[in-house]
Amino acid sequence: ESILKEASEWSAKSAQDVENFRLAFLSKKGKLNQLFDEFKQVPNEKKREFGQELNKLKTQIEEKFSSLQEQGNESGGHSADRPDIFLPEVPDGLGALHPLTLTRRRISEIFARMGFNSEDGPEMETDWYNFTALNFPENHPAREMQDTFFIARGKEQKDDTLLRTHTSNVQIRLMEHQKPPLRSIMIGRVYRNEAISARAHCQFHQAEGLYVDKNVSFRDLKDTLLHFAKEMFGKDTKIRLRPSYFPFTEPSAEIDISCFICKGEGCNICKKTGWVEIGGAGMVDPFVLESSGIDPEEYTGFAFGMGIERIAMLKYDINDIRLFFDNDVRFLSQFKGA
Ligand code: PHE
Repeated sequence: ESILKEASEWSAKSAQDVENFRLAFLSKKGKLNQLFDEFKQVPNEKKREFGQELNKLKTQIEEKFSSLQEQGNESGGHSADRPDIFLPEVPDGLGALHPLTLTRRRISEIFARMGFNSEDGPEMETDWYNFTALNFPENHPAREMQDTFFIARGKEQKDDTLLRTHTSNVQIRLMEHQKPPLRSIMIGRVYRNEAISARAHCQFHQAEGLYVDKNVSFRDLKDTLLHFAKEMFGKDTKIRLRPSYFPFTEPSAEIDISCFICKGEGCNICKKTGWVEIGGAGMVDPFVLESSGIDPEEYTGFAFGMGIERIAMLKYDINDIRLFFDNDVRFLSQFKGA
């Protein structure tokens, strides 16, 4: 009886407590076994009664032992051979590619198949490559089409260093260093001093295309953009080129694609017009070719620039551009396996 009382007072806070209980009562040298040893000395006529009592005690102590094991588990007790089943699961370590990365890769892939190689250029740029060489004259209002972040050097604010407002700077850098034929896609981050909202951000990405060779025509531009739109958004996609103005292309156009969400019927995405703008394009202005050392009598070219966020928002039905930069895993993990 005293053994039973002693045993019932045990509680287990850890696996070690449970093990101590086992050593004290149930092991070879434990209290229960001692009683079984005593049993041998019990006179025969009492053996039956003593035996029954002993077996009852054994069952009770074993019951106590298993309840202690459970207790030990609940209070976090665990060891190498008995893992803690109450620990939260190890999180799935596999990440997802960012939707902009997925979109960038898809764009490069589509143009790679048309023979465009990938090129890169600096985000911090001089006025020359971002504006002047692209035929934006100094103090010309066209510069105000793109609100620019200028970079101060020391105390003096010098307006000749800036964060590029578009990827067109890479066009100039390429034409300076390579002879035609040129066929490149240039993807990267650009910056504009704009108020941040669901539709606009002060940083975003563009995919710039440049094709310079003999006899490159506006028709080549149209075919290339149409093929891209079909590959990116589906084979029924149409494109529309709307007359526009850029200092570095002539003629210039805005690129629209048919809204595949409402299939031309008019919805909120396309502001009920059936068309959505994805970028600008045009034939490279002879002045630009010339100032990059390419003879405009011999060569012609086309160029285009498209917004990558815009394309990703259409493709994945994303309604707020800020989501791309928030780094919220609840948003990002939705692109697993996309
Ligand atoms: N750079 C222009 C913009 O960001 C887009 C563009 C690129 C237009 C190439 C024509 C040719 O608005």
